[in-house]
Amino acid sequence: MAPLAPKPRPGVLDIEAYVPGESQVPGGLKPIKLSSNETPLGPSPKAVEAFTAAGAALERYPDGQATALRQAIARRFGLNPDRIVCGAGSDELINLIAHAYLGPGDEGLFTEHGFLLYRIVVLAAGATPIVAPETNLKTDVDAILARVTPRTKVVFLANPNNPTGTYLGFDEVRRLRAALPSDVLLVLDAAYAEYVRKNDYEAGLELVATTENTVMTRTFSKIFGLAGLRIGWAYCPEAVANALNRIRGPFNLSAPAIAAGAAAMDDWPHIEAAIRHNDEWLPWLTAEIEKLGLTVTPSVANFILVHLPKEPGRDAVACDTFLKQRGIILRRVAGYGLPHALRITIGTEAENRKVVEALAAFVGARG
Ligand SMILES: Cc1ncc(COP(=O)(O)O)c(C=O)c1O
Repeated sequence: MAPLAPKPRPGVLDIEAYVPGESQVPGGLKPIKLSSNETPLGPSPKAVEAFTAAGAALERYPDGQATALRQAIARRFGLNPDRIVCGAGSDELINLIAHAYLGPGDEGLFTEHGFLLYRIVVLAAGATPIVAPETNLKTDVDAILARVTPRTKVVFLANPNNPTGTYLGFDEVRRLRAALPSDVLLVLDAAYAEYVRKNDYEAGLELVATTENTVMTRTFSKIFGLAGLRIGWAYCPEAVANALNRIRGPFNLSAPAIAAGAAAMDDWPHIEAAIRHNDEWLPWLTAEIEKLGLTVTPSVANFILVHLPKEPGRDAVACDTFLKQRGIILRRVAGYGLPHALRITIGTEAENRKVVEALAAFVGARG
């Protein structure tokens, strides 16, 4: 008889591991990487300076409370630092939330084309993932509410959503919160909040401030340009912050991450420059790609979703291959239920022009 082997908990082997955006192209070309929604402006030079300075004391444990970082965030947004929990990327926080609030028999709800991590963390917590359909690639509040059961414990909502780039206005978010049972935690994942230029958008601060059952997560990986350092934060009701602080690693942020994150938060002109860049190039890229006869889902974030024809040779796979041969890496999104689309991050001016040229060549060559 074969010896017994260690077995992961139920659900773990149902997880399809997250596949990050690609970063290499064939032939040793220097790639134009537009696959992970990173900022083309890089981090604040002040953040890089703080990171380098932190290198002088690497034998020391970091501050387990990430005090300097929480204070910098609190100053910027006028928040109570005690209700901010930091993580090694917002993905750690989303994972911690799932582990604190979901278990076997519970349901974690998210939308049809919602960020892929939600399914992973729900399964990892031993709970059951429930998917609410979207309408025209947009969150449908009524569809979410229709799937709530007594077992629903957490609803995850990326706003704006990745990979669609669409968003839900504050009235709708408020309507969702009001209609959810009070024991359901609503997680507003606002990874792209800084980019949104819509009067009816609210990232989540107000709901966290006025309810006891809403959490907002944010990241330093996108507009702050610190994806490589892994920094995220959550603004929480007191009881939620208390739960997350009990289960997080005692030193879950490194000292260089704490220092660089705080410096980045204090350099708002750098963030404003990134917002201006996106304001210029998001509409430009959208319009230029539409001129090629392709459909683009209107986005409020730093990426766009481009829809390709379904015919083999003209489809998303062919387009992705064609662009990769030219050194341009986009994001395939079949894993999000969008096999005929590609996601493109807004890059530098030169990168944006190159991606349009390459798409024009692809469309032209296939008439
Ligand atoms: C919607 C959304 N949430 C969270 C994340 C995770 O970001 P990080 O873990 O780098 O903070 C991403 C990254 O792609 C995202 O798109």
